[in-house]
Amino acid sequence: MGRKLLNRESIVAVCGAGAMGAGIAQVAALAGHRVIILDQAEDALSRGRDTVAKGLSALVKRGKLEDAEAVEIAARCEWSLDIEALAGADLVIEAIVENAEIKRVLFQRIEDVVAADAIIATNTSSLAVTALAAGRKNPSRYMGLHFFNPAPVMKLVEVISGAETDPTLAAYALDLMTSWGKTAVMARDVPGFIVNRVARPYYGEGWRALEEGAADAATLDFLYRDLAGFRMGPFELGDLIGHDINTAAAKSIFDAYSGRTRFTPSLMQGGLVAAGRLGRKSGRGVYSYSDESKPAPNLIAPQGAVCDISLLKTIIGKGEADFEGARFFYADGRSASRAAADAKRPAVIVDYMRDPAAATAIAFAASDETADAAALALASQSGKSAARLNDRAGLVVFRTLAQLVNCASDAVRDQVASPEAIDIALINGVNYPFGPLDWARRENFARIASALDFISDETGDAMYRPGEWLRAAARKAL
Ligand code: NAI
Repeated sequence: MGRKLLNRESIVAVCGAGAMGAGIAQVAALAGHRVIILDQAEDALSRGRDTVAKGLSALVKRGKLEDAEAVEIAARCEWSLDIEALAGADLVIEAIVENAEIKRVLFQRIEDVVAADAIIATNTSSLAVTALAAGRKNPSRYMGLHFFNPAPVMKLVEVISGAETDPTLAAYALDLMTSWGKTAVMARDVPGFIVNRVARPYYGEGWRALEEGAADAATLDFLYRDLAGFRMGPFELGDLIGHDINTAAAKSIFDAYSGRTRFTPSLMQGGLVAAGRLGRKSGRGVYSYSDESKPAPNLIAPQGAVCDISLLKTIIGKGEADFEGARFFYADGRSASRAAADAKRPAVIVDYMRDPAAATAIAFAASDETADAAALALASQSGKSAARLNDRAGLVVFRTLAQLVNCASDAVRDQVASPEAIDIALINGVNYPFGPLDWARRENFARIASALDFISDETGDAMYRPGEWLRAAARKAL
């Protein structure tokens, strides 16, 4: 199909002036396009206009735009209630309510007014592009362009081809999104695409650790930040997203994959929603927002003024070391009690640490009192606080990372995207400090696969068993 290439003169239409639509409109206008934004409600249009105005003035304040440029960009946006306004659009991006029937009706109306070669993209996060395009006059011009919230800030766009999509469109859309300053990756048309599928264990494992009493929520959130470099722990993030939205996403992925256990939603989070504790927006979620005070993590301060991390580095580098009557192991999927049984002596497991010099705490599980005292001594000697975890297979941060690798590996196996694209998607779509597959490669795939086997064995839960792609990568790494 001889498709005309989009350029700055091309007109972009955005349907829906809500959170996503307004953000996408701002991005397109900033890239130089004339943008027509359609909504069905006047107040939605004026809210959208305000959102774009605020977004642009924030860029002016940060010195990224001149005043005059912001005025020009805002003037390139036309806000309309009339579908006829879309007539000259070369690219339409639909970002209305997440309802397949309502979207299909809108597509029909769009097709009636736009040119035969206009591209029609959906920003859906959970519906199949193939199904949305099915029955349309020309399904080959439909595709997915999945932006992340807030669209002007988050770099990632997942580019999705449906079964009938013109194969040249994806490469073309990748270039276009890059010219808009986005980081675009191709993803298969599967539920959750890349990010909303692969990121599930970040929440799932956080909730499971809380349910099992590994530590309290504030401590767990702290550990994900301090030990691994995540910007927010799963509970503070859930409070921000809204637990209703977050559980609905978890349930829809679980159902879409016919109950694949890797995606099991948390019962505890479901309970929170039932209790009306939706997060920041309802004043209370995991945490209460009635005042500014947030519960502090439960940490044991170091004794003394020593700050020598050489032993800690040995444990991390070699995987084990003896100290104060206990054997220390770096997280390998076992619980401390299993490690003690294997080593026939008191054992400590130290949870994952991305940067032992920068981390302010050591998280550990100990098999007995001797091991516990030794762990506190290690923390003091290293000049770090200690977070005592209830003993469990793989501890907390390491287990979460290992299960993220498992899900990412399954996504590679299922041809959702390349390993590189999956890592790029998680770094740019949800701000992960590193890509899970690159992390696993650096940690050694064989080590991660063996850890997941330990976790699966000890928990008795098949959801942790490594998938075929991960096992193959592990064999190659040996
Ligand atoms: P929103 O509720 O903020 O905005 C939707 C807008 O669409 C509203 O202004 C509504 O008046 C308008 N609308 C509804 N039906 C319409 C119709 N028939 N014609 C014209 N306008 C119509 O929703 P939000 O959050 O912006 O989501 C929009 C889409 O983007 C959904 O498909 C959602 O799944 C997807 N998405 C949402 C993300 C998020 O974090 N909110 C992230 C990525 C994708």
